[in-house]
Amino acid sequence: MNIETYIAEKKVFIEDWLGLHVPSEDLSPSSLYRAMRYSLLAKSKRIRPILALAVTESLGGNIERVLPFACGLELIHTYSLVHDDLPAMDNDDVRRGQPSNHKVFGEAMAILAGDALLTHAFFLMISPQIVSDLSPELVLRIIHEISKAAGTQGMISGQVMDMECEGQTISLSRLETMHSCKTGAMILAAIRVGGLVAGVSTEQMENLGLYGRHIGLAFQIIDDVLDIEGQPELLGKTIGKDRTAQKATFPLLLGVEESKKLAHQHYVQGIQALEGFGERVEILRDLAKFIIFRKF
Ligand code: IPE
Ligand code: IPE
Ligand code: MG
Ligand code: MG
Ligand code: MG
Repeated sequence: MNIETYIAEKKVFIEDWLGLHVPSEDLSPSSLYRAMRYSLLAKSKRIRPILALAVTESLGGNIERVLPFACGLELIHTYSLVHDDLPAMDNDDVRRGQPSNHKVFGEAMAILAGDALLTHAFFLMISPQIVSDLSPELVLRIIHEISKAAGTQGMISGQVMDMECEGQTISLSRLETMHSCKTGAMILAAIRVGGLVAGVSTEQMENLGLYGRHIGLAFQIIDDVLDIEGQPELLGKTIGKDRTAQKATFPLLLGVEESKKLAHQHYVQGIQALEGFGERVEILRDLAKFIIFRKF
């Protein structure tokens, strides 16, 4: 199966689950559910949940079991986008090919919709009827992994660094830390959670972690590149915003071509980490390639 078909199939699986597990707009408070569903169900790559499913599936696990966590990660990621776009943060008017949440629902509702997406993720991931097939110990380990990635040791710290580094020239290593936190952590968590559900060994988890760290960083390097040379209609967001906001980015530090080379190096290192898994993780190699050559 080619990668486009794989992604399209998995997207349907993920979006069906998300659509069913976030309350419908017919329920009260409908304004909140409308705002949550507006951003959540908009056009997206769904790369985090797809990675979680791909790891579990390729390593012989049951994808139905990883699905609630894969979707939990997508709910958390969507909240981070809604808040990232707020005027107090990146002040972006377009997201996922449509006006940003706060442009449609107002800032107060966008803040609350983001809060609700985050909280709802944990509500679902810990609901006994949803995760009844897994041992409580495994559920706890997964929740620990995800909360670490989303919180002060991951995405939020990265967002703080991103904000505080505006207008500053920072070192390559600090930029790497920032990108690994703000974006890499959630991608790494998706991969590790996929491994946990598949029941991988400690050594396999280390290698998956290495793969995850490299492709997570590559993902954000390419995001920075696309802010310069992406096509807005494909990307679904406004381009050129990083420069205007004087964000610390890889292209600013290294230039576009060197940034692409660096992303490629991380891709190669990510693939190397998969060597011991053989043919069965071909889809993980394809997803890594998709990440660095993507146009959106
Ligand atoms: C955008 O994430 C924000 C970053 C972390 C770079 P994605 O590029 O995964 O956006 P969607 O989910 O496909 O909209
Ligand atoms: C966002 O990084 C990372 C998040 C945690 C949301 P960016 O600010 O670069 O993401 P885009 O370019 O707005 O999607
Ligand atoms: Mg940002
Ligand atoms: Mg942004
Ligand atoms: Mg960006």
